[in-house]
Amino acid sequence: MPEVPDLSGRVVVITGGSSGIGAAAAAALARLGAAVAIVGRSPVKTQAVAAATGAAPFTCDFAQLDQVRRLAGELAAAYARIDVLANNAGLLSRRRVLTADGHELTLQVNHLAPFLLTHLLAERLGEGSKVLVTSSRMQLVGRIDRRDLAPRGDGTERTPRYRPLRVYGTTKLENVLFASELARRWGGRGVAAASFNPGTVRTDFGRRGGLAVALAYRSPIRHLLLSPAEGADTLVWLASTPAGEAWRPGGCYERRRPARSHPRARDQGLAAWLFDRSAELVGLA
Ligand SMILES: NC(=O)c1ccc[n+]([C@@H]2O[C@H](COP(=O)([O-])OP(=O)(O)OC[C@H]3O[C@@H](n4cnc5c(N)ncnc54)[C@H](OP(=O)(O)O)[C@@H]3O)[C@@H](O)[C@H]2O)c1
Repeated sequence: MPEVPDLSGRVVVITGGSSGIGAAAAAALARLGAAVAIVGRSPVKTQAVAAATGAAPFTCDFAQLDQVRRLAGELAAAYARIDVLANNAGLLSRRRVLTADGHELTLQVNHLAPFLLTHLLAERLGEGSKVLVTSSRMQLVGRIDRRDLAPRGDGTERTPRYRPLRVYGTTKLENVLFASELARRWGGRGVAAASFNPGTVRTDFGRRGGLAVALAYRSPIRHLLLSPAEGADTLVWLASTPAGEAWRPGGCYERRRPARSHPRARDQGLAAWLFDRSAELVGLA
């Protein structure tokens, strides 16, 4: 029988913990003994998952970076050390929307807000801590344009209009590059980072994503999609097994194995550039 990991005494923070993959991961990690904190946008959903799993509830809308700063302060006040930070919250905006911070919404929620949160919690992430990021197979359609991290069409370029799936895929490629560069930069102080693709999972995600996503997630084949617990499996595995032994820091995983990732996912120059550019965009540079 495989050994069941014991996470007693470990603190795990999961963003996007109020629903889907994050809620399933919270339940699984709490069962392994971890003290779990979940972050959700909806207070009602977050409270409900917290009550069902025994997790501590925190709320934050990543569309507002001030709220991310507030959340980081609350988490830092509640926990002297964070063993696992799972940056899992994500969305796919159907239209190009700019946040009050001036960033495209999908880019901010999926990449910039977790980038900022991770940095603001740096002092709570020490030797042996892990930072995990939920990416997607959609990273394969991502395309990083150094002029605009959420590529937009302005009528004069090859992308004449906002393409939600392309922008979403780009943020998911950014997730992979962030995890790999974080592993390089913070590895020296014992922090391991990785990303993973959950597969196609039956969650609320499909309801929010528009026609193309809805077709995939709400069609008659919906029952063939993974359950949230199956989608959370690789996250739970990364959180509960030793970095450097079970998995390689900086890697992207799927079904507990190295994932097929975007050709540019291993471009260290691009990852370093993205890291520095993201720091500028969230006011950390
Ligand atoms: N489902 C799939 O097939 C699939 C495939 C590949 C990757 N993923 C990724 O998996 C992650 C989890 O998605 P899911 O499938 O579990 O979808 P979900 O059920 O819709 O959960 C998304 C989570 O993100 C939170 N969230 C959304 N917008 C937010 C915002 N502005 N601020 C803070 N939190 C926000 C939601 O909070 P509230 O519910 O409280 O609003 C919810 O907890 C995402 O990063 C997604 O891109 C999903």
